[in-house]
Amino acid sequence: MRTITAIMGDGIGPEVVEATIRVVDATGVPIDWQRVYAGMTAFNKTGNPLPQETLDSIARNRVALKGPCDTPIAGGFPSVNVALRQKFDLFANVRPIKSMPGVKSRYANVDLVIFREGIEGLYGGTEEYVVKDGLIIGAEAKAITTVANCNRFFQQVFDFSSRQGRRVTIVHKANIQKKTSGLFLKLGKELAGGRNIVVNEIIVDNAAQKLVLDPTRFELLACNNEHGDILSDLCAGLVGGLGVVPGANIGDKYAIFEAAHGTAPDIAGKGIANPTALILSAAMMLEHIGEPFAAKIVREAVETVIGEGRRVTADINWKAMLLQKAATTEEMTDEIIYAIGNLSKGA
Ligand code: NAI
Repeated sequence: MRTITAIMGDGIGPEVVEATIRVVDATGVPIDWQRVYAGMTAFNKTGNPLPQETLDSIARNRVALKGPCDTPIAGGFPSVNVALRQKFDLFANVRPIKSMPGVKSRYANVDLVIFREGIEGLYGGTEEYVVKDGLIIGAEAKAITTVANCNRFFQQVFDFSSRQGRRVTIVHKANIQKKTSGLFLKLGKELAGGRNIVVNEIIVDNAAQKLVLDPTRFELLACNNEHGDILSDLCAGLVGGLGVVPGANIGDKYAIFEAAHGTAPDIAGKGIANPTALILSAAMMLEHIGEPFAAKIVREAVETVIGEGRRVTADINWKAMLLQKAATTEEMTDEIIYAIGNLSKGA
């Protein structure tokens, strides 16, 4: 039996993590889940948003399933999401953005992947207040781009794009941030050239516009940390919202699987969060640990339940919500587990 760390997170975190654990367990893959805390809940319990027990558990198990964690705005402790990526050297954040039959959205045929660099850029840099005569007169930030990290990031991008036959577009702002973003772009293009891969490039603001007009023109977007963060939410909006977009943070030694969404404070504790994004993240995790069949069954079960549209959460079925017929997190999870049972029998 394999032990995997389950970081419960904040807000809707515990609800979607428990739902996802039930789904993974239903595939029959034997996993011993080690539940640990991070974020505001951990801070309130222990005074530390990233307790040593949590770090030790990830270090031991090397694979974690993570619920979203709160980050206080404009003050308080630093983001544990950023800290976890840095501590475990998770330099590639992979987010598949795919339309699903049954999810109401603007486009029916989106199928792109966002590859977001995970540990550098502005989020990986430092920021300081500028103080004069004891008064804060401003603030400044430093962005980080290193050759070694960009090379291994783009190596992953091109390995993945070659496996999946996807055309890569490098997103940048090298017209303004000529050194930090410029180096990111240059290294990506050089590596592609060395492998005879044709890449496109696009300035991030234009990418945002083109994504809204026609996302089907893109197959894989390679972005720096902050561009990838923002475009992920934009792209989630193109395929039905944050409730359906999964993600994986991958490094050389460790991997943490988490949805693109946050703690959803507006719906936390109501039992109505969509578990899909984390369940699909768990499918990525199952592939990562060498269980591709279980991963396939989980994806098919999710697609079946969402395709049928009878027992899905309100965020993807507004009609059901208006009729007060939307499913709770638990009901949708039960339906997915039922579908896994049927699919496993048929296999
Ligand atoms: P959010 O993703 O939590 O919520 C944005 C909107 O999407 C809300 O209306 C929410 O109800 C909806 N939503 C998100 N996930 C959903 C789901 N599974 N089912 C149904 N609806 C869902 O973003 P927000 O409000 O900007 O951030 C809230 C907190 O989450 C902040 O403290 C932020 O720092 C944190 N956060 C954490 C992340 C992580 O742990 N990786 C990622 C993004 C935000």
